[in-house]
Amino acid sequence: MPIPTDRSFNVDGASITFGEGALSEVGDLAANLGMTRVALFTDRGLEHSEHVSIVVASLASAGIDALVFSDVRVEPTDQSFKKAAQWAQETDPDGFVSVGGGSVIDTTKAANLYSSYPSDFLTYVNRPIGAGEPVPGVLKPHIACPTTSGTGSECTGIAVFDLLEMSAKTGIASKRLRPTHAVVDPTVTTTLPANVVASSGFDVLSHALVSYTARRYLERPAPQRPTDRPASQGSNPWSDLGCRESLQLLGRYLVRAVHDATDTEARYQVMWAATLAGIAFGNAGCHAPHGMSYSVAGLVKNFQPSGYPHHDPIIPHGMSVVVNAPAVFRQTWRTNPERHAEAARWLGYSGVQADETPENEALSGQIIDLMKATGMPNGLTALGYTPEDVPSLVEGSVVQRRLMDNAPISVDKSSLTALFADSLTLW
Ligand SMILES: [Fe+2]
Repeated sequence: MPIPTDRSFNVDGASITFGEGALSEVGDLAANLGMTRVALFTDRGLEHSEHVSIVVASLASAGIDALVFSDVRVEPTDQSFKKAAQWAQETDPDGFVSVGGGSVIDTTKAANLYSSYPSDFLTYVNRPIGAGEPVPGVLKPHIACPTTSGTGSECTGIAVFDLLEMSAKTGIASKRLRPTHAVVDPTVTTTLPANVVASSGFDVLSHALVSYTARRYLERPAPQRPTDRPASQGSNPWSDLGCRESLQLLGRYLVRAVHDATDTEARYQVMWAATLAGIAFGNAGCHAPHGMSYSVAGLVKNFQPSGYPHHDPIIPHGMSVVVNAPAVFRQTWRTNPERHAEAARWLGYSGVQADETPENEALSGQIIDLMKATGMPNGLTALGYTPEDVPSLVEGSVVQRRLMDNAPISVDKSSLTALFADSLTLW
């Protein structure tokens, strides 16, 4: 008997405020959610920033106390999550506010979860690394304020971290982790270094592309109960809307946004593209390029990107994702040539070289052109990897089943070996 496939999809809308100056609205939103004493999460680089000052002043004007935790690790670990959760448990706030990038927002989700429902750390972590237990109940309200135009974490129920003992990236995924409200103020992007705009921009681009090309929701096995339907439900008519608009905006504005910090039109539009892509992948799910990125980032050797405020080797998330994207889309093309061709055109592919370009190269070639135009590394080799590293890269990513099973092709050790080999050098 064939396994019955699903027939419906969910629209789990994030609640969002978007606009110039929106950070000053946080206090009123927090009061409306019943907050009186909040835990405000940020990182050392932002602790004394104007963004945090605006949020704290807004909370104060609404009569709300803010207790600040700034010991967030960029690229968080199980240990940094535990430290944040312990602080939240001791502080016992009645709500959370996060001001920062994906690392800050993800840490806040974990702190909210483990302080609300204390448990052994691996209880809620995705299978097969953790037990993948459901979050037992609702969490305290959380207002997320992103300060980069990338992760989309403010719109999703996912918290990603490095499990140190296994040198592996993994995560916790539950709709209950989704922030109660996101406040997206595009003025935060005007001070970002070019390399940060580029890397986070390619994270956005990857979110939109994978959500658009993911296995269709109608092909996923039906859940036992409708309420068990996962957030990674596959591409669907709702997520398609956000992907389309997001890719068109990126095609038009990404290169401009990277190269000119004063081009507020471009930077604001990329922030809106990030928000749309966040909504889309929060309802569709990512696939292979993200699954592969977990080991690319986790096994980093000596790579140190410019524009990032720390001294440890690190591969920014967007870079670790996009280096795998051209190889993946070369392979997924055949599952839906029309969708891949549309996406290539939205990103600016003119089709001028259509005679010489094999059809399945259009999207990958367009991604590579954008990478070249924005100073991205030329594949895994430029990040410090060699062909000898491919087996360990495969081992670290083949276990990311939530992501791999959402791809439109089957992803196993042998296909991953070919995909990583094809990602060593892109041009
Ligand atoms: Fe991402």
